[in-house]
Formats: sequence, structure tokens, C-alpha cells
Amino acid sequence: MIILAIESSCDDTGAALIEDGKNILSNCLSSQDEVHKWYGGVVPELASRRHLESIVPVIRGALDEAHKSLDDVNGVAVTRGPGLVGSLLVGIMAAKAIAYTKNLPLAGVNHLMGHLLAIFAEQEVAFPFIGMVASGGHTSLYLAEGFTVFHPLGKTRDDAAGEAFDKVAKYLGLGYPGGVAIEQLARHGDPNAIPFPRAYMAKDSLDFSFSGIKTAVVNHVRAHPPSNDGMADIAASFQEAVVDVLVDKIIWAAQRHKVDKAVVAGGVASNNRLRERLQQRGEETGIQTYFPSPYLCRDNAAMIGVAGYHLFNEGRKDGLDMSALSRWPLEKGLNP
Ligand code: KG4
Ligand code: ZN
Repeated sequence: MIILAIESSCDDTGAALIEDGKNILSNCLSSQDEVHKWYGGVVPELASRRHLESIVPVIRGALDEAHKSLDDVNGVAVTRGPGLVGSLLVGIMAAKAIAYTKNLPLAGVNHLMGHLLAIFAEQEVAFPFIGMVASGGHTSLYLAEGFTVFHPLGKTRDDAAGEAFDKVAKYLGLGYPGGVAIEQLARHGDPNAIPFPRAYMAKDSLDFSFSGIKTAVVNHVRAHPPSNDGMADIAASFQEAVVDVLVDKIIWAAQRHKVDKAVVAGGVASNNRLRERLQQRGEETGIQTYFPSPYLCRDNAAMIGVAGYHLFNEGRKDGLDMSALSRWPLEKGLNP
């Protein structure tokens, strides 16, 4: 089964062709970083306008790269939410137009489910596992028991982990998006230089909070204006504090639910310090850790194709009246 998948929930326009829920025939992405970097964050109105310009060339690109035409496609999967409504609508309208004219089944995919299943485009992971999505919009932990069965265990109560990276980078004048810039600068700094707070919340909580650390960085810089070397120490110490909490809570979740596997996805999962530290803790505690390649961690359409395949497999389809959903927690299950 070949699925045409479309992703436009935030600031990247993506289209991919996925065969049998795992083989990536093509995976095209048009990034809007150039548009939004001037504002230090995504401007929704500009994002939807840029999606409109990019969507047809990106879908054409995905078909060409796979050497396929729409006649070879057996189903259309598109991100239905959560995300920016204006952005989502562009992908959804394109998907509906193709499904209608080619008489193909349509599946509206939860973006978080896409992130959690991205790993399957590269390797099999046996269920159950702990799944984490750490991105610019989300920091959530799930117990994944099957391709369409996710139990929420915890999530951020304020900023997402990636949002904290972006805000701290903006404050330090490192540009947007901030995760990669902080990681690069952190390589030259001491992760133990500044004891930034780790918010563990209540004792057993698997929830997260990243707004306090952002304020702590601002207060530290005001009290001790840094030299150039000092900036690297701040970046390394901030990154270490975020990584500590993410790693600890993933391991706790696995231990509490007696699961020996953990999958981490979303843009922040590209962070090499997080990858090293979690792998090390996993080895110490007998928990196998999995990270998709960075191009599958960030927003992309291939992961939507993987998820769409499993929805079709279970007989789930959506009608042409399908709406966009700005909020769609996996908490509610797959039916909004
Ligand atoms: O998954 P993604 O591409 O889009 C969302 O769904 O949000 O994630 C983007 C987020 C941004 O906040 C970005 O700063 C962060 O992921 N990010 C990183 C790294 N690469 C991207 N954060 C930390 N370290 C990185 N290497
Ligand atoms: Zn995402």
C-alpha cells in the first residue's frame, strides 16, 4: 500500500510517499525558518501563506522523488491536528482535493501519534514502550501499547522543552530556532558551571515544567553579565538541566510501568547530549532506548504516512467533511 502523506501543522510544509507503513519512497520538506527567524518564533499568518505557496510543489516533489504518479497512490494521510489551524487547513484541503479527485481513502492523523511512530520508518520496536514527544509545542510521555493505543502519563504544565530552548536562545541572542544553536554553544561550556533549577514537580509526577528555568537563566544573566566563555557555560548548564529532567522522567516512567523500551521523538530528540545521557542511563537500568534519525525527529510527512498506514489498517477513515483541530490531545484517544 502506497500512502501520500502531508504535514503542515506548524512552519514546515512536508509531503512523503510511504510504502507499507515503513518504506520511505520520498520525504520532501520545505522549511520556513528563513521567514520566521526575523521574529524569533512562528508567525501563524505568515506560516499559512507560505504553506499555500509550497504545498503543490512539495507534493509534486514527493511524487517525482519516488518516481510515482497519483495513480500509484492507494490512500492519503494528512495531519489533522494539533497545530495552527491556518497551517493545518492548507494541508487538509490539498489532501481532500486529491482524495476526492482520485477517489482515495483519507485519514486525518494526530501529529503526536506521527512523532511517536516515526521510528518505525527505520526499525521495528516491540510494544509496549514508553514514548516521549519533545518538540517546540509539546513535551508529553505516553505508554504505547500498540500502533493506535497510547496512554498519557505526563506532559508539560507550561512551556514545551523545545520552546524553552528557543526562548533562552532568543534571550541570549543566538537566533531561531534555538535548539541547535544552544547545543553547538554548549559543546564549549561546562554543564556543571551553573546549578539551574530542575523542576521535578510533585514526588511521583511525570509532568514537566520548563518556564522556571527560562526565568532562572534571565536572572542569572542580569546578575552576572557573561563574557564569551560565560555564554557557553550558560548554554551547557541550561541544556544539562533540561536533559536531566527529561532523562529521569523517561526512566521513571519505564520503571513504573515495567517496560524495558523507550522511544524519544520530536525536534528536541535530535539533541546529542539528550541522546548520550539517555542511552547511558538506559544501559545502567536495562532499558533499551530508541531515537529516530534527526530528519524523522523534526516535523516531517513520512511519520504521518507511517501513522496513516496503521489507521487504514484498522479500518479508520475520515470523510471529506473532516475539520482541522487546533487542540487534539492523544488523551482522548484517536477519536477527537
Ligand atoms: O518537532 P519540531 O521540528 O517541531 C514541533 O513540532 O515543534 O521541533 C522543533 C523544536 C524547536 O523548539 C527546536 O529548538 C527544537 O525542536 N530542537 C532542538 C534541537 N533541534 C531542534 N532542541 C534541542 N537540541 C536540538 N539539537
Ligand atoms: Zn511536531
